[in-house]
Amino acid sequence: MTSDNSDGTVTRADFVVVGAGVAGFTAALAAAERGLSVVVLNKGPRWDFDRAEQSTATFYAQGGVAAVLPGVVEDSVDLHLSDTVAAGGGLTDPVAARPILADGWPAVAELIDLGTHFDRGADGDLLRTREGGHSVRRIVHSGGDATGAAIQRSLSRAAGATSTIDCRDDATVTSVILDGGVCVGVTYLSAGRRHAVFAPSVLLATGGAGQLYAATTNPAGASADGIALALRAGAVVADLEFIQFHPTMLFTPGVRGRRTLISEAVRGEGGRLVDVDGASVTAGVHPMGDLAPRDVVANAVETAIERTGHPCVYLDVGAVDDFARRFPTVGAGIAAAGVEIGDGRIPVVPGAHYLCGGVVTDEDARTSVPGLLAAGEVARTGLHGANRLASNSLLEGLVMGRRAARTACLRRAEPVADLAPAAELPATVLPRTRLQDLMSRFVGLRRNAAGLRQVAEEIAGAPLTVIADGVAVEDASLTLTATAVVAAATARAESRGSHNRTDHPHTDTIGTSRMFRLVDGVVAEQSPVVIGPGG
Ligand code: SIN
Repeated sequence: MTSDNSDGTVTRADFVVVGAGVAGFTAALAAAERGLSVVVLNKGPRWDFDRAEQSTATFYAQGGVAAVLPGVVEDSVDLHLSDTVAAGGGLTDPVAARPILADGWPAVAELIDLGTHFDRGADGDLLRTREGGHSVRRIVHSGGDATGAAIQRSLSRAAGATSTIDCRDDATVTSVILDGGVCVGVTYLSAGRRHAVFAPSVLLATGGAGQLYAATTNPAGASADGIALALRAGAVVADLEFIQFHPTMLFTPGVRGRRTLISEAVRGEGGRLVDVDGASVTAGVHPMGDLAPRDVVANAVETAIERTGHPCVYLDVGAVDDFARRFPTVGAGIAAAGVEIGDGRIPVVPGAHYLCGGVVTDEDARTSVPGLLAAGEVARTGLHGANRLASNSLLEGLVMGRRAARTACLRRAEPVADLAPAAELPATVLPRTRLQDLMSRFVGLRRNAAGLRQVAEEIAGAPLTVIADGVAVEDASLTLTATAVVAAATARAESRGSHNRTDHPHTDTIGTSRMFRLVDGVVAEQSPVVIGPGG
């Protein structure tokens, strides 16, 4: 039900989904199946798959979906769990992780039912590749290395064809509406007007924060919006210091923003990382060599760059069977960047890729704010710990999206009062390029106390800005999230997973996740929360 007033429209629905990637659309479709009316707020433009740049990180996912397929005797959920825990640097919560992994195959089967084509061999069986940290081949893929694009197409089309899903494009969410500490809706900007949608459940499925950095594998929309919305709503976040750097982002010096990812599956199919002199990058570093967990390989790449003084290393694809056919997306990205790889060596560097932490949720996607849910990269379920296992993220988005829909269904009858949304407050904003340069220099793959302090001080001195348009919303989200990342990285005086402190290179014997919340405008550490069904 929608009405118009002098400001913008006011809509009531059963479920609001913020974000239009894998977790958001999966949740929207599952909720619609259960009879809920759903509003999806997509800050990107209307889907057009011919556009050169797409707005979700889902679209750019290459490697695939990690899942234990039925009938694969060498694999099991326990083995997948043990690989996930080994990659997670002591912070993966096995109790939360196991059921998510166990739901992997049903999630893939549902995508297949929806018409998603996964690559199959001549015998009709699903093809499986390997990526870093996986002890067996268990990653299913589509179009070679275009898995995310295939999933995004299926989900976008299915949502577009569902009459009870109201997809609103070019809609940037500005705030979570609270009624006595309970989330009852959101406000959003579209076409220069401020609108409101009220519902008993709001799902944050806004993706990650790659735009904190000058170079990233993430699209322009990965601006940490959901983390900032959750913090301002009073929700608890955790593990934000664990920003995963992918070991192989295409090296294109001077380019700001999204750069082409070179999938780990290239290494799974025989690609080898070598330095400028042709020496192995990972020899002697880890028993799994080039297929070690991502944090280990990214560090080995950085070490090789420091040792040789050469600005990148190379991924030698000479031993990969029919590289161009198997990895068409990678090939197209390299060509579009104007990089020549006639000698079969792709220049690569580590690049900001994935936010392992996020808004703390329970197994049903509930955050610490009743009525506010989170799923996908924005959420921290406990699956990824300090370093995500490759291709566990599409899996998590699919599984947690469905669980969020189930939670929204249970909350459908919760009362939602008519409220006038509060006026938007000005927010601290550091200009984006300055923030990206600071984060890249001081909060990248390696950090130390002095660098972290410098970033914190510069952000603290940034001016308050009126949030009048989508760009300002993103800049404010990035600034607040950077504050929280820096606070978390400063508090963790050890090195673990994807967080490396050059001034604290040791790893504590016992690792714990650290939780933070916004208290009177300050990101403050707090004791761990237990989220209950009341949420
Ligand atoms: C890749 O294809 O290397 C990326 C997969 C992932 O980030 O999970």
